[in-house]
Amino acid sequence: MGDDAYGISPEIIRRIASEIHDLTEAGVEVALVIGGGNIFRGAGLAAAGIDRVTGDHMGMLATVINSLAMQDALERLGVIARVMSAISINEICEDYIRRKAVRHLEKGRVVVFAAGTGNPFFTTDSAASLRAIEINAELLIKATKVDGIYSADPVKDKTAKRYDALSYDAVLDQKLGVMDATAIVLCRENNMPLRVLDMTQAGSMMRAVQGLNEGTLVSNQ
Ligand code: GTP
Repeated sequence: MGDDAYGISPEIIRRIASEIHDLTEAGVEVALVIGGGNIFRGAGLAAAGIDRVTGDHMGMLATVINSLAMQDALERLGVIARVMSAISINEICEDYIRRKAVRHLEKGRVVVFAAGTGNPFFTTDSAASLRAIEINAELLIKATKVDGIYSADPVKDKTAKRYDALSYDAVLDQKLGVMDATAIVLCRENNMPLRVLDMTQAGSMMRAVQGLNEGTLVSNQ
């Protein structure tokens, strides 16, 4: 959203695409999962009485819109990208087929996984964990607006301290709320390392894939 209250900020999406461009130039295979909260927040409408499943379907469509915007932004920078959707909308993008996704990655294309898991009640974070595991990713990055996981909300509590590394169980036990429990458990059960970092810091994703100590690493330590 950038500074706007709603929608897609061309400047922000260009900047993120440019960071992904740098990753691909460095030879990293990149797959993305993008949420839809900038367009549609299911929780707000659910609280107002809209059917939860309908709200989640609307959220999935919002992620498709964002994924198409990202595909466009990447291709403007010369990065070939393929949107693959968990719900069938063939006129707009490819269906998600695991083996095809892996093939795209091997060919150096960025794959954007759209529509979450295709199921209501599952978050974008769970979709990211699931896809990371399915494609045998080496690292799952939660690229967000905070530079790691803190002991408390750093905005509200000035004494909050940032962790360099944590176990999945510590995140769950302390309800650290960085991703929902389903997403964390999926990572834990499949040994998928997760790094939480601030995507607004230039080069943060590059430093993470280089194995540097960026943000917070969550693993079976
Ligand atoms: P290779 O087979 O590895 O060469 O991959 P490719 O993606 O370049 O070839 P393909 O013939 O599968 O796709 C050509 C173009 O059509 C690409 O831009 C795809 O994203 C797009 N495409 C493929 N399948 C679908 C689909 O089901 N729906 C839509 N809308 N586009 C598709």
